[in-house]
Amino acid sequence: MLLIYFYFFSVSVKLKLICSHQPIIALAGDDVILPCHLEPATNATFSKVVWTKPGLDPKYIHVHQHGPMLYSQNPSYSNRTRLFVNELAHGNISLKIFGVNISDTGQYWCFLPPIQAEVPVQLIVGSVSTPVIKVISNTSETLVLGCESKGWYPEPELLWLDTEGKILSAGPTETVGGPDDLYTVSSRVTVEKRHSNNITCRVQQRNINQTRETQIHVSGRKVYEKLLY
Ligand SMILES: *[C@@H]1O[C@H](CO)[C@@H](O)[C@H](O)[C@H]1NC(C)=O
Ligand SMILES: *[C@@H]1O[C@H](CO)[C@@H](O)[C@H](O)[C@H]1NC(C)=O
Ligand SMILES: *[C@@H]1O[C@H](CO)[C@@H](O)[C@H](O)[C@H]1NC(C)=O
Ligand SMILES: *[C@@H]1O[C@H](CO)[C@@H](O)[C@H](O)[C@H]1NC(C)=O
Ligand SMILES: *[C@@H]1O[C@H](CO)[C@@H](O)[C@H](O)[C@H]1NC(C)=O
Ligand SMILES: *[C@@H]1O[C@H](CO)[C@@H](O)[C@H](O)[C@H]1NC(C)=O
Ligand SMILES: *[C@@H]1O[C@H](CO)[C@@H](O)[C@H](O)[C@H]1NC(C)=O
Repeated sequence: MLLIYFYFFSVSVKLKLICSHQPIIALAGDDVILPCHLEPATNATFSKVVWTKPGLDPKYIHVHQHGPMLYSQNPSYSNRTRLFVNELAHGNISLKIFGVNISDTGQYWCFLPPIQAEVPVQLIVGSVSTPVIKVISNTSETLVLGCESKGWYPEPELLWLDTEGKILSAGPTETVGGPDDLYTVSSRVTVEKRHSNNITCRVQQRNINQTRETQIHVSGRKVYEKLLY
């Protein structure tokens, strides 16, 4: 054991702790891996590894060490984290978090005391839902449609598109943030019934690369008039 520590310290000049530069993106409920490893690959089985999330109290998310535990883990991560114990021998000190929630969004730090290296990894946890289209008014000339989508994080944008995928000019998007940090967006559009058309309500969030959409078919007025005769 002492020899192993000696080895760790003696090569510490050349050892690098590398973590993902890209933010890790997930949806609520997913299991995620925050990737970090040692270069060159070094057996970290007996090294202390400390994962923290500054801003939390206590800030400790996961602590791997031998001997008495001197850190208290943040209770909201209790039973939700683990290192890949068989991978530690190959210098892989990635952290797995089970069942992430949007409140897990933020910057995590991986700290390796033997080489005094501390490197951040960004986690973004999003939440999405499918929009719902309702007919608000339906006259012989025009149709007013409303679209609503609840339960988004971060705040998304809402677009109305026609059959060709062209953006329709619509009323302003109303955004409401709930106490659970989730956003509800809604908007209305007026469509003329000259031609038949497939109108799409698209809700998207670029930071989490997520799009959800719903389509409604609008029959052209001619079709509608024919039906009357
Ligand atoms: C931890 O997780 C295990 C397996 O999912 C479960 O059986 C156990 O009850 C959990 N403990 C706590 C304190 O949540
Ligand atoms: C890593 O170190 C542990 C603890 O001494 C040892 O049991 C294991 O065989 C080592 N693994 C490798 C791949 O060197
Ligand atoms: C570390 O181990 C995890 C789980 O096996 C794996 O998904 C990840 O790709 C590994 N990372 C590296 C750098 O080997
Ligand atoms: C998820 O996060 C929200 C907002 O921070 C919080 O209100 C909710 O209690 C969390 N849910 C769980 C299961 O932790
Ligand atoms: C509008 O009303 C007409 C006549 O009742 C009906 O045929 C049509 O399906 C309605 N359009 C929508 C989008 O509900
Ligand atoms: C609207 O969508 C339906 C089903 O996807 C398709 O059959 C129809 O041709 C589309 N109408 C127009 C005007 O593009
Ligand atoms: C975004 O999502 C699409 C579809 O799921 C995927 O093809 C694309 O590679 C993703 N882009 C990024 C930057 O993750």
